[in-house]
Amino acid sequence: MALLPILQYPNPKLYTVAAPVGVVNDEIRKLIKDMSDTMYAAPGVGLAATQVNDHRRVIVIDISEAHDQLQVFINPEIIASSGTATCEEGCLSVPGIFEKVKRAERITVCALDARGHSFTLDAEGLLAVCIQHEMDHLEGKVFVDYLSRLKQQRILAKLKKQQRQVM
Ligand code: NI
Repeated sequence: MALLPILQYPNPKLYTVAAPVGVVNDEIRKLIKDMSDTMYAAPGVGLAATQVNDHRRVIVIDISEAHDQLQVFINPEIIASSGTATCEEGCLSVPGIFEKVKRAERITVCALDARGHSFTLDAEGLLAVCIQHEMDHLEGKVFVDYLSRLKQQRILAKLKKQQRQVM
């Protein structure tokens, strides 16, 4: 089990746009294993490779209570979306901060799984929110970017204070 360090907002590396995965091989599967170990240990419900400073299009999500339903999305694309839903979101890169973000209510996502097989999934509710949140990371976007300038400044001040307490 390998736990990877998670980049903390506002680390500029979080603003990197990830590159598509060419071949889903054992190296990618190792990354997936390390990312899921890191996500479960945090604990969190989703993690994008961007957050562990690997800039390839890989996402892991598990919204189950028992943490036994890992979902892997490689090179994900949203091919359809509808409705709007506002949900309170948090992020392992922005610890202790929870803010409402407006997103599509339902999405259809197409991706590769850990074996490199393509699949299409209809998602709504928390899963849809999670997929959109993690896909934003691959585009170099953090949920804080959706908030007002004032809220962003407050969050930065709060995070600085938290970091001082840790050190
Ligand atoms: Ni996040």
